[in-house]
Amino acid sequence: MSSSIFADFDHYRLPIGEDRTPIDAVRQVRDRAVETDTRIGWCENYGGFWLVTGWDEARAIYRDSRTFSNQIPITPPFLNITGRPIMLVGYDGEQHMRYRRIVQAWFSPQNVATMTDDFRRDAEELIDGFIDVGSADLGRDFGWVIPQRLVARMMGMPIQDAAELTPWVYALSHAEGLGLANVEEARSVLSARFHELLRDRRRRPGSDILSLLVQYRDPDGRALTEDELLDFFSALVDGAIENSSQLLSDTVWLLAREHDLRRRLAADPDLLATSFDEFLRYFSPANGGSRLVTADATIGGQDLKAGEVVFPYTPVVNRDPRQFADPDAFVPDRSPNRHFALSNGPHRCLGAHLIRLEFVVATSVLLRRIPDFELDPAAQAHWSLGGTSGMESVPVLFDRGRRAA
Ligand code: HEM
Repeated sequence: MSSSIFADFDHYRLPIGEDRTPIDAVRQVRDRAVETDTRIGWCENYGGFWLVTGWDEARAIYRDSRTFSNQIPITPPFLNITGRPIMLVGYDGEQHMRYRRIVQAWFSPQNVATMTDDFRRDAEELIDGFIDVGSADLGRDFGWVIPQRLVARMMGMPIQDAAELTPWVYALSHAEGLGLANVEEARSVLSARFHELLRDRRRRPGSDILSLLVQYRDPDGRALTEDELLDFFSALVDGAIENSSQLLSDTVWLLAREHDLRRRLAADPDLLATSFDEFLRYFSPANGGSRLVTADATIGGQDLKAGEVVFPYTPVVNRDPRQFADPDAFVPDRSPNRHFALSNGPHRCLGAHLIRLEFVVATSVLLRRIPDFELDPAAQAHWSLGGTSGMESVPVLFDRGRRAA
């Protein structure tokens, strides 16, 4: 690629390589950034923004939320179903913390641990659906379904309803940047479903997070408004479905190709748990969070002006050789592994414990039930680019096994 690698950068249109991923294109951006020592480069797309490629520079941005604000219409474009700031991700300072405190306990390691058996049952049931066939799409039939079930439980809705929402969530986060027509329809479907659910939760509250939000009162006795509730619903559904589905599907894709790695992880549950961070670093499904510069600043030797947008692009930042030795190698027990796949600073992913548990349980059940599988040579894996990015379809073959039930 030429020196226009920064000016023309477009994460919605990266070239997909022969391995069916954009990893090679990501590496080329990183290589060019290192060769020219450009830790921040100007990109002309989406109204113009600074593309941040360096780990130190990304960290400085994430940690200084006064200079680098989240209060912007997200650029480059990202999910936003209401026109208002995205709940949590779109707020700064005390207002952000006030919202975050409402739901923080629900995402604590203790509360998340109560979901372990549900995750195990989900994985077992899904595998029962294809284990006696000898082939499956481990993206569409496993990686993308486990998080739907989580969303259903999180919101207290039937599993089928969460499955129906997924294409609309997908339409928003993948089509918005491209200005595709079905975005408006996706917005209205999600908002209609939310209002039905809200009526139900008000009548019959449960232990789900929507019931918690409906019953919440601030110290002055004020309840959350209907807009705030819709914004929570939208941010949580999106947070739980997209990135998690991509991480699980990316993982099975790599395991289908790397037989030694798969056998090592199957034999060593501790290594599987440690490798969670390396899968996150290696694939970085969330592209990163853009920030608005609120006061002139200098980062990585680059002067930035108030009003400009900076975008730490995580797939590249997580391959910065100044932070990660041999960054293109997959090292399951890499330590330290200070990746930013779940961001950093006050907006660090709230679902971090949840996704770790979901990943470890689902992957360990899969490796126990189907220890050997490989990519189906007659079918093609499919990666999708967008506000988040990752494998969507991972067709595999394996020796037929027996259903558990
Ligand atoms: C592999 C899975 C996941 C990845 C890669 C991921 C990534 C991220 C990233 C990068 C951010 C910060 C964005 C920014 O700094 O602007 C974030 C925030 C957030 N994530 Fe996740 N996430 C994942 C799973 C989840 C799950 C399962 C949930 C649960 C519902 C969730 C809920 C959230 C929420 C609510 C925030 C906003 C936090 C805040 O602004 O205070 N995420 N996530």
